[in-house]
Amino acid sequence: MIQIAVLGYGTVGSGVVEVIETNKADINKKAGEELAVKYILDLREFPGDPYEKKVVHDFDVILKDPEVTVICETMGGATYAYDYTRKALLAGKSVCTSNKELVAAHGPELLRLARENRCNYLFEASVGGGIPIIRPLNYSLTAEHIDGITGILNGTTNYILTKMDKEGADFEDVLKEAQDKGYAEKNPEADVEGYDACRKIAILSSLMMGKSVNYEDIYTEGITKITSADFKYAKQMNKSVKLLAFSQDTEDGFFAMVAPFMISREHPLYSVNDVFNAVYVHGNMLGDSMYYGRGAGKLPTASAVVSDVVDCARHQGKTIMCFWDEEQVKVADIGRAKRKFFVRVSADKREAAMAAFGSLAEINVGIADEFAFMTQTMSEKDFAEKIEKLGGCLNRIRIMA
Ligand code: HSE
Repeated sequence: MIQIAVLGYGTVGSGVVEVIETNKADINKKAGEELAVKYILDLREFPGDPYEKKVVHDFDVILKDPEVTVICETMGGATYAYDYTRKALLAGKSVCTSNKELVAAHGPELLRLARENRCNYLFEASVGGGIPIIRPLNYSLTAEHIDGITGILNGTTNYILTKMDKEGADFEDVLKEAQDKGYAEKNPEADVEGYDACRKIAILSSLMMGKSVNYEDIYTEGITKITSADFKYAKQMNKSVKLLAFSQDTEDGFFAMVAPFMISREHPLYSVNDVFNAVYVHGNMLGDSMYYGRGAGKLPTASAVVSDVVDCARHQGKTIMCFWDEEQVKVADIGRAKRKFFVRVSADKREAAMAAFGSLAEINVGIADEFAFMTQTMSEKDFAEKIEKLGGCLNRIRIMA
């Protein structure tokens, strides 16, 4: 029997217990042994909960119990979770986590501790919720040289942008509605400013490169400046606006970015709507492949955590290979990246914009007092200089090729 402790009995932690209970026949068969939740660590009591007697408040109880061999860390944050994870791995107990903040900040160190102590640090649930993406990158695509990953990695912002697109609504109104329905956090900063997607692409990029991509080196822009007017133009251009997180390993260097992009109807990520996530991976032999599903939520995320527990049960005393060294990847200056841009300026800047950008494609949706256009392909640096000379713009959105 595999005895498990769950750290944090919140949304994902309670989901882990529910998944193990609901699918126990299947899971035990696939694990080759019975999985049993022995402890749940939480500050709170849960009177009336069927698992209330398993709740403990002291992590040492779990750490010192030799029967516990697998820990599900579903607490979040990078303070207590970091301390408990280190202690667990040093004690030879495997840890399965949904905590992208901790994986992005300390992944390679925790993987090393797992190797040194012949156990596992697994994090399928940290990116894309229930979508299998860590395992495909780690196991299934090992014959590939992966040189590009583009993802819609945040469910909250994808829900907001989808509503803005389909209903012509404004950002603030949709955000409020999403908060009222419990889809968006009361403090939505990490989602709407792109920080959550940034940590997730840092994790995927590190697996792609086999070295550490520091999330703090990734240029990150959120969706708070996107307006209903931007969607009018996007529609006219047969495009939509999505918050994309991507990384590319090119001859010119390693590029990574999180920002809203206009993408055309033909792009596979165009149809990824509402709270769904998708990860589009390019390998040099396979070409493109895409992984799609529910990127957030209690049971999808918990399902991914439990899949890692099953892997631990199948690999007792062995560490599953994961190529993510502590050596840092140099992230290229985004000023060198080249693309087209969609731009809106006030109507009085029309002539100046035409002079600055030369050949441009005007886009007209009948909004008075402004001039909108798409540039030719140019570097981020050139673009920023031209916009500065123009004295700024109403908005600009990058265009995905
Ligand atoms: N806040 C995240 C999202 C949860 O909206 O995608 C899953 O990481």
